[in-house]
Amino acid sequence: MKNISELSARQAHTSAASPAASAPGAAAAALAQAPARTPADRAALVDDLTLKMIRFYQGNQEDIAHFLKVHAYAARIGRGEGLDPETQLLLEAEAVAHDIACPLCREKYGDTHGDHQMAESAELLSSFLAGTGLTPEERARVTWVVSRHHDYAHVDGPDYQMLLEADFLVNAGENPRKYLVPGYHHMKTVFFRTGTGLALLDAVFPDGADTVCG
Ligand SMILES: [Fe+2]
Repeated sequence: MKNISELSARQAHTSAASPAASAPGAAAAALAQAPARTPADRAALVDDLTLKMIRFYQGNQEDIAHFLKVHAYAARIGRGEGLDPETQLLLEAEAVAHDIACPLCREKYGDTHGDHQMAESAELLSSFLAGTGLTPEERARVTWVVSRHHDYAHVDGPDYQMLLEADFLVNAGENPRKYLVPGYHHMKTVFFRTGTGLALLDAVFPDGADTVCG
C-alpha cells in the first residue's frame, strides 16, 4: 500500500520527467509556478469557485449538496494531513468541480459513468476554470484529477487520493447499497491511505457496512 509520502514523491518524480505534461506531474509543476497568495486569497478563490459551481448546477439540489459535502470532507482531510497550502487549494478546487460533467452526461448518455465523465470533463472545465485565478498549470492539474476521479488504479498524488476518499464518504452515505455494502471493507483495508480519511470513515460509518443498511 502506498502512503501519502510515497504519493508525493511519485508526483514530484513524474513532474521532473515530463514537466510540461498536463498529466501526472502537473501537480508539482503547478505548485512550482503558483503565484504568491495569502490565506485570504486562497479562501476567496475557493469561495468564488463554490458559488460559481452552485450556479452551474442551476438549482439541482442533489448535485449542489453532493459537491458541498465532498468539498467539506476533502478540505478536512487535507488539513488533517497537513497538506501545504497550495496543494490544499488544488484539492479543494478539485472537490468543488469534481462532478461538473454529471448534468451533461445524464442528458447525453443517460448516466454518469466514469468513462463518460472522463470524456466530457475537460472541455467543461476549460471554460469553468477560466478567470478563476488559477494558473494554467493549476487548471491542468484540476482537470487531470477531475477527469479521472473514478479511476482508483492510477492515483498519482495526495490531492487525487484525498478527493477519492472524500467522494467515497459522501457516495457511501447517499447510496449505501451501491457503495457501502460492496465497498466498505476494500476501501477501509486497501484503498483509504490517510489517517484523517480513515478516522472519518470510522466516524461516519461506526458499524461499517451495517451502519445505514441494517
Ligand atoms: Fe462525487
